[in-house]
Amino acid sequence: MSNQNPTSSAAPADRAARDMDPAIADVVAPERDIAVEVGENIMEIKNLSVKFGGLVALDDVSFTIKRGEILGLIGPNGAGKTTCFNVMTGVYKPTSGQVLLEGQSIGGKLRHQITRLGLARTFQNIRLFGEMTALENVVVGLDARHKTSVVGALLRLPRHRREERTAIERGMALLEFVGIADDAAMLSRHLSYGHQRRLEIARALATDPKVLCLDEPAAGFNPAEKEDLMALIRAIRSDGYTVLLIEHDMKLVMGVTDRIVVLEFGKKLADGLPVEIRNDPRVVAAYLGEPEDDVA
Ligand SMILES: Nc1ncnc2c1ncn2[C@@H]1O[C@H](COP(=O)(O)OP(=O)(O)OP(=O)(O)O)[C@@H](O)[C@H]1O
Ligand SMILES: [Mg+2]
Repeated sequence: MSNQNPTSSAAPADRAARDMDPAIADVVAPERDIAVEVGENIMEIKNLSVKFGGLVALDDVSFTIKRGEILGLIGPNGAGKTTCFNVMTGVYKPTSGQVLLEGQSIGGKLRHQITRLGLARTFQNIRLFGEMTALENVVVGLDARHKTSVVGALLRLPRHRREERTAIERGMALLEFVGIADDAAMLSRHLSYGHQRRLEIARALATDPKVLCLDEPAAGFNPAEKEDLMALIRAIRSDGYTVLLIEHDMKLVMGVTDRIVVLEFGKKLADGLPVEIRNDPRVVAAYLGEPEDDVA
């Protein structure tokens, strides 16, 4: 599949919903009305610096994420990619700089507040509730948006029961979308590695994010599994989500992203279209000596 530049394509919101079961489409691709806004900045990372003691993990890094795109964040081991996610999602406070989501600073906000503002992530090392079923893991994500109070839930008030039913339907639709519906009732620790990675994505999607941040979602996959996962990421974008994808494997990222930001030793080395990045001598040099399929 060729890359699509969101600034030049029409990107109708219902593009992917066409081929999907209507019940699933309703969950995964609700009316998003993104067409007019595709290409605007949805996030701005401004002059971000993060120091751990004497180590500068991020050094004055700035880039933007455009609505409706898949932006790749690449760089060798230790370049600062995960640190960047950790600042964006409120895990670390930056030493200096700012992160804006739709113009609003996420500085000082707690992690769950940032989730509610519309930022969801997966982790480089899978983090699921191992003793909960796959479906329960997703319903937990949906809970982040529920209106019923804890008391209402404990007393099982009618509205809570109604929301619980809807949550299960929505959860099932999300599992279906990422291709693991058959695992719904299985404890997540019993899922295959690849399905656990997909479950993490379903759980992140359950929070209905504006920007979905994926930290090396294909780590440890063989080439065929990687290609399948990239197809899923493209489907997610087609449904109107904006995706920030950390990927160590440059070849992989070239095939799926609209634009790429390259980090090296905490600094932004380059940003641009995949074709520009591939031919940038500084980027090629940064990757020389890097194993092609390092899963660190
Ligand atoms: N909590 C921390 N305390 C101290 N140093 C840290 C911490 N988190 C990250 N670092 C350091 O910051 C640098 C950037 O790490 P980061 O995890 O962001 O890299 P990365 O680009 O995600 O690398 P990888 O491809 O290996 O996942 C590294 O030198 C790392 O050791
Ligand atoms: Mg990392």
